[in-house]
Amino acid sequence: MNNFSLSNTLSRRSLLRAALIVPFAVPFANSVARANSSRILVADAFTLPPLPYKFNELEPHIDAETMELHHDKHHATYVKNLNDAIAKAPELAGKSADDLIKMLDTVPEAIRMTVRNNAGGHVNHSMFWTLMKPHGGGEPTGAIADAIKSTFTSFDMFKTAFNEAGTKRFGSGWVWLVKNKAGKLEIMTTPNQDNPTMAEYGSYPIFGNDLWEHAYYLKYRNRRIEYLTAWWNTVNWDEINKRFAAAPALTAAVDVGGVWTLTGDAQGTPVNATVTFKQDSTKLTGTTKSEAGEAALMGDVSGSKVTWTINIKYQGNDLTVVFAGNVGADGTMTGTLDATVATGTFTAKKQ
Ligand SMILES: [Fe+2]
Repeated sequence: MNNFSLSNTLSRRSLLRAALIVPFAVPFANSVARANSSRILVADAFTLPPLPYKFNELEPHIDAETMELHHDKHHATYVKNLNDAIAKAPELAGKSADDLIKMLDTVPEAIRMTVRNNAGGHVNHSMFWTLMKPHGGGEPTGAIADAIKSTFTSFDMFKTAFNEAGTKRFGSGWVWLVKNKAGKLEIMTTPNQDNPTMAEYGSYPIFGNDLWEHAYYLKYRNRRIEYLTAWWNTVNWDEINKRFAAAPALTAAVDVGGVWTLTGDAQGTPVNATVTFKQDSTKLTGTTKSEAGEAALMGDVSGSKVTWTINIKYQGNDLTVVFAGNVGADGTMTGTLDATVATGTFTAKKQ
């Protein structure tokens, strides 16, 4: 067989094979496309919010190139990394980024640091863009103006203290005005992409400024204080007042710290557990022990209302169980539980 007839035979074989395969390959390809698109739907649970103004509209205080890189590259990367991490932990699908950073102890350890950094980055930047606007700045207005004045004496003294805290934060991080556990305004800083709502800070961010070099280095180089000073010219006080008004009331909460015996019923299935709460102001950590095993809990106390969440494996299924209780005058807690596949009610007594 010469080269020509060999290649001719081969190409006839290829054609024949293609003719046989194509009818099967098309539906197969379609089903792969469908599988991929459903995977993409899950993986793309988090999306990059559009910038509410043009890249150049915060000039001269923040330059267009910095804004474009900061939003389109840095923030976009946090979103992508967060989606990639959550794709590895399907039990977390449906949780908001805000919820994830409040409940990091319930995130599987293998992805916990990735979620901390990237859900934190996503939450921080999504808020940050809205805190600025073209032709912003000036003196604060509304309720936040009064609160700043009564806490820090004057806006100028507050700004100086805020800028100083931002300058002193070593490396990357954020400087915040928060409502703290005691319900008071406080300036604080956090490292990396940590957010004040994370359990160890237990505070509510009214607003914050980005101390990462990617926020200012192109224009201000290593002069962080110049960036911090100029940033006030972009501030959107209307948005900050909205966030201040939405701050949760961190009022005195019932003391639930200790060990509780919990009994309940979830659509015919008895629920028996020993719940250990460690309470730090309005934040709860601890464990829930039941026949399904032991699971870390994360929760909140607001007044007499107690809510906590655990992730457990029950009869081979990964379950997220949300408990919502109320402590009555006699110290007994009654409430509901939602385990996705079943809901129920419970009563709990402190041991
Ligand atoms: Fe940033």
